[in-house]
Amino acid sequence: MWIYLNNRFVSRDEARVSIFDHGFLYGDGVYETLRAYGGRLFMLRQHLERLERSARLIGLALPLTISDWPPLLEEALRRNGLSDAYLRLTISRGEGSIGLDPSLCPTPTLVVIAQPLPNYPPHLYDEGVRLIISQTRRNLAEALPPHIKSLNFLNNILAKREATLAKVFDAVMLNATGHLAECTTSNLFFVRHGRLCTPAVGCGILDGITRNVVLQLARARYIETEEGTYPPADVFAADECFLTNTTMEIMPVRSLNDRPIGSGKPGPLTQTLQSAFRSKLPDFLQKAPGLLD
Ligand code: PDD
Repeated sequence: MWIYLNNRFVSRDEARVSIFDHGFLYGDGVYETLRAYGGRLFMLRQHLERLERSARLIGLALPLTISDWPPLLEEALRRNGLSDAYLRLTISRGEGSIGLDPSLCPTPTLVVIAQPLPNYPPHLYDEGVRLIISQTRRNLAEALPPHIKSLNFLNNILAKREATLAKVFDAVMLNATGHLAECTTSNLFFVRHGRLCTPAVGCGILDGITRNVVLQLARARYIETEEGTYPPADVFAADECFLTNTTMEIMPVRSLNDRPIGSGKPGPLTQTLQSAFRSKLPDFLQKAPGLLD
């Protein structure tokens, strides 16, 4: 496995980061997860723009510009012999002495990992996943804005622990006012009376790139969409529910807190959007070097 670390590709064993790196000490940094399909990257520009935005919002100067990334990502895939892959771009504040002041870290640490995709068992897509509502609330936007994709993931990890202890796939996190926010690494959708609903970005979520694609696909098919503020009761009363993220695409949900949602099986609108996603996928893929064409 070849890892890009700061300015060169190194073997996995050589890929070492300092114990004084503020990413390690404080979770100070940002990241993106991308997916490659046949060597092409899903929504590459949008991921790179979100990375830039996250970095800007924490006052971190990225060591690469948007146009530097595509050839680097292509090289990471090539060196690892991958065409369908998971790519993780991590930029931490860098090495510095102990203390919170970012100016202690003159140079950010940059890591690119390209590895095979995580395997979601096909039966999850056929049957849908089980969720709980976590006790852990999503970070308050005024404290740590969830639209910053930061390395500081403890909020989500605490919710994920609850899901793991409850032996379910994942947990729905509510925001501070008790409204639906998102799952630990995905966005939440539900369908009620034919209308596709998803918590608005203002509810304190990551504005998922797959979420936007799904909204776009739905609107193109004249499916009514709504981004709003919803109590958890709306999911219990929903006809269908699913999750979206870059690695899972569209994952049906069959129950919440052990209460079946709709028929408890992937519903018709979920299936329509899954097949729309698959058939329109080529439109959302960008060949790395052609990104800025
Ligand atoms: N997670 N919400 C959260 C909290 C996330 O971490 C993610 C992505 C999403 C979905 O975003 P997108 O559709 O852009 O992937 C929503 C990625 C997959 C991760 O953490 O690896």
